[in-house]
Amino acid sequence: MRAAVARVRPAYAPMSNTADKLLTLVIARKQEIADGITALELRDPAGTALPHFTPGAHITTTTPCGLQRDYSIANADEDDDYYEIAVQRERDGRGSSSLIDETHEGDTLEVSWPKNDFPMVPSSDGYVFIAGGIGLTPILSMIRSLERSRGASFELYYCTRSPEQTAYLDEINALATRGRATIHHDGGDPERMFDFWPVVEQCKGRHLYCCGPRPLMREIQDMTGHWPSANVHFEAFTKAEKRVSTERAFNVRLARSDRVVEIPPDASILETLRAHGLELRSSCESGTCGTCRTTLLAGEPDHRDFVLHDDERTANVMICVSRSKSDELVLDL
Ligand code: FES
Repeated sequence: MRAAVARVRPAYAPMSNTADKLLTLVIARKQEIADGITALELRDPAGTALPHFTPGAHITTTTPCGLQRDYSIANADEDDDYYEIAVQRERDGRGSSSLIDETHEGDTLEVSWPKNDFPMVPSSDGYVFIAGGIGLTPILSMIRSLERSRGASFELYYCTRSPEQTAYLDEINALATRGRATIHHDGGDPERMFDFWPVVEQCKGRHLYCCGPRPLMREIQDMTGHWPSANVHFEAFTKAEKRVSTERAFNVRLARSDRVVEIPPDASILETLRAHGLELRSSCESGTCGTCRTTLLAGEPDHRDFVLHDDERTANVMICVSRSKSDELVLDL
């Protein structure tokens, strides 16, 4: 009798430093899944299993017009032969329009190896997921992975403007019929925002993951001040909002050298200090991961992150997004 021979599918070798590694993937499927939202399924042209990712991970995609954009991976982590991303057409967004209008099934795209700034912490007490608009995608990967593994319990609150602008509507409706999801349409009116207080009034050991527009994340941050900070997780689905002309310049004094650097209206503290030669750690650059936390020695920051709690704000600042209300901030750098 001949022994069965297991077929081993080729796979990318694990790497320790994947920061600059690129993959060339083919668009195996392209489909409009809601008004202004297109899903892309990316696969290796030779069928090689893709580098592993964990729920909450994202990839950086180079668009046909040459811009780089981050997109969360929406599929379950066990599906390692493709990455599914959903691209929302942004107003005045050249990168997203280029991906939607200038690509076809069969085209190739250069993407980074997966990176995760929004990892799912194991929780036997369950999860609360809160998603706004296209911010559903990293949370969808978490939900699909939990469903697949019959993992901990969860409840999803998914806020969009209308049914027509709701990506993955059928899948979330199916969860809703099982009592695991609530869909809320607000017509884009902040006055009609879902009342989350009954949901977050008690932590009960659960972990909360929120991804969506900044007003939604700000609301959840304000409402969860009584939760342990380790149980609340945010992910911005765009990098820090483009700084507008209403921003003003201010100075940062580097206490260790007494050097003063002016931060212009259109650049962050992090970007500006790097341009002046400082080596500074960062990851999300959207005020959600905590990597760029810097000790504040003097001055009044304009905090714009989703990491610091009220009692941490007098002595710390997230330099990737926050600015200053005073003319000068003194940092322990
Ligand atoms: S780099 Fe993530 S909070 Fe600043």
